Amino acid sequence: MRNFKPIYYILICSFTFLLLSSCTDEKPIAINPAIIPAPASQQIYEGVFEMSNSTGIVSTDAAFTQIAGFLKSYVTYGSSIELKSEDYNNVIIFKKDASITNLEGYQLKITTERIEILASSSKGAFYAVQSLRQLLPTSFENGSYKNDTVSIQNLEIKDAPQFTYRGMHLDVGRHFFPVDFIKKYIDLMGMLKMNTFHWHLTEDQGWRIEIKKYPKLQEVAAYRNETLIGHYSDQPHKFDGKKYGGFYTQEQIKDIVKYASDRQIDVIPEIEMPGHAQAAISAYPELGCTGKPIDVATKWGVFEDIYCPKEATFKFLEDVIDEVIALFPGKYIHIGGDEAPKTRWKNCAHCQSLIKKENLKDEYGLQSYFIKRMEKYINSKGKKIIGWDEILEGGLAPNATVMSWRGTEGAVIAAKQQHDVILTPGSHCYFDHYQSTKEDEPLAIGGFLPLEKVYNFNPIPKELTKEESKFVLGAQGNVWTEYMKDSKQVEYMAFPRMMALSEVVWSKTENKNYEDFKNRLEVYQHRLDARNVNYANHLYEVLGKSEIKNGSLFMNLKTSSNTKTIRYTLDGTAPNSNSAIYKKSLEIDKSLTINAAAFDDRKQVSAIFKETVKMHKAVGKKISFNVLPSEKYNAGGNSALINGISGSDKRYGDDQWSGFDGKDVEITIDLRKEMNINSIQTRFNNQKGSWIYAPSQVLVTFPGNEEFLPIKLEESDDKIVDLKLETKIFTRFVKLKLVNFGIIPDGRQGAGHKPWIFIDEIIIE
Ligand code: ACM
Ligand code: ZN
Repeated sequence: MRNFKPIYYILICSFTFLLLSSCTDEKPIAINPAIIPAPASQQIYEGVFEMSNSTGIVSTDAAFTQIAGFLKSYVTYGSSIELKSEDYNNVIIFKKDASITNLEGYQLKITTERIEILASSSKGAFYAVQSLRQLLPTSFENGSYKNDTVSIQNLEIKDAPQFTYRGMHLDVGRHFFPVDFIKKYIDLMGMLKMNTFHWHLTEDQGWRIEIKKYPKLQEVAAYRNETLIGHYSDQPHKFDGKKYGGFYTQEQIKDIVKYASDRQIDVIPEIEMPGHAQAAISAYPELGCTGKPIDVATKWGVFEDIYCPKEATFKFLEDVIDEVIALFPGKYIHIGGDEAPKTRWKNCAHCQSLIKKENLKDEYGLQSYFIKRMEKYINSKGKKIIGWDEILEGGLAPNATVMSWRGTEGAVIAAKQQHDVILTPGSHCYFDHYQSTKEDEPLAIGGFLPLEKVYNFNPIPKELTKEESKFVLGAQGNVWTEYMKDSKQVEYMAFPRMMALSEVVWSKTENKNYEDFKNRLEVYQHRLDARNVNYANHLYEVLGKSEIKNGSLFMNLKTSSNTKTIRYTLDGTAPNSNSAIYKKSLEIDKSLTINAAAFDDRKQVSAIFKETVKMHKAVGKKISFNVLPSEKYNAGGNSALINGISGSDKRYGDDQWSGFDGKDVEITIDLRKEMNINSIQTRFNNQKGSWIYAPSQVLVTFPGNEEFLPIKLEESDDKIVDLKLETKIFTRFVKLKLVNFGIIPDGRQGAGHKPWIFIDEIIIE
């Protein structure tokens, strides 16, 4: 266990005080260790190592020379400390220790005499340096450290990661980011001991890697004519009319791969196939089934024009892979495999004859054939493939690693078939989802993935036995950039969630503690400030959760720091430093608006949390369903629809909307006694781009009464569809039957599937 002893901080300070009569002496006190990700073991000792201009830096093994150079340049950059090359008295020394069997493991021993870094490979040494870095003042991060010595807390760390795959992904297809930013992203990953950069290089909206044999990939596929404005669900679609694009040259890619390798990061290129290929097909229409010219996509989503499995297409892809392999020395090539609609293949003579000739079951069999064939080629070049979990459909390629994104089911199936898996489920690893329920969050694709949920992720699915769980290589955060126009927005979405994920994949489960993590995160944020990272800060944000107890409504408020106070008002005004302090759940018995914020002493340190409660006859009563809301979209529990609180207009992933996957839904509300009711009111989410449709019909009945009210809902393009039924009835029970819209027609997102129904508060008056 880690063993934090902040007491030494005080001891050192008062000792200095005695000698120098001042705590603000030239030699600042050592900072309190607060390393992210939490080391496997950390023992803090009394005393400090003083690093100064007479400190030497020594690498006793050639394997560590580059890492020692990294440390030296980090420390000396802009600060007045100049490490000497050699000095065996006052020294930071790198030593090879073959007894450290984990190549990524290390020991960091800091004593008053010296700092020793022990590792069996350059990887471990690099991670030791990253831990040491977090023991130095944050002003080293931007070269603004001004003193000529620094005190470093004596301690001993023994550390090694839990998972071998610790990944971050970045989609550069939807938006394109400059080389300098890619390097910054890699730098920030390295600081957190993440070791794999999954670079999503090809998309419908842009091809971003130079392939010399196919110049139209650069001339045509790398640029789109314009880009969708606002959210995909905003109807009608509007466009900005501006040409957009770019690509990385092979020279730039080599430079980035080297840069990553110096930070112990492997880069996995993703070349999508057979879907998400519209940009490539726009450059070379013969790669598609129809051969007809199409444009690079200008909006988001899934597109029907996918690669046609012709010999010429395989030749193209093999040529591309040849050039890709020459640029990326790592063992993996990611071939995508996700979201490939089969519409074109169904109507293509070539595809149909290939299905017959190869004795394949259907188009899914053809997808499997496609992936297996590409795997064989890639394996023949000494590389392995990774694919999204759709590569399971129609049969898994023999040596493939599966990246499970549609939940964890794909990982479970693949691991049981003894295939390596990487966990990236949308529920815990999609950093393009909202991280706060605040209405003024910057536009995002949807969903809700707060920091704590990332932190609590366990990459080992519970369905796996101990033996099967060995196939779980690790986890990865995905950053899809439809709604991230620039690198500042990528930083906002990736941080601090990347920090939480680093602890998921590196730290021992028994060392994980969210409260402690938050304290360390506060410290780490200063480091990000110094590196000019635009991280999201929802650390003290007040969160409210309603609760029904014995038929009464309560509101619970919390903020993620124990050291902050929540102040609130119930009269609609903003809270201030004199407002009531929140001590226990607030019982709510009438319509009102709660405003609350976190305060550090008298200073407001969070945005205002605001929740409007509307009291009505169903609040706190009994609700039952024929099918329960999907686990993924039932954050508010089964009483969310009768708790007096409506969902966000923008987000369906909050605590108030309930989502049902593809089914007709029957909801019965028991008012516990007969009463007069005048109206029933609710609303449905209708974000069709996300496969969410208002029901086609709602049937309202009052069991025990004869009344029966069918309401047909016309299809609408509004993002939210309101429903209000005026009636005069004396009843105890109200039953709503929601009839699912039915199969989504061709040409739309989710075609061929039944959509979701999302329903909000059912207000009975
Ligand atoms: C994915 O999010 N389409 C892998
Ligand atoms: Zn075809």
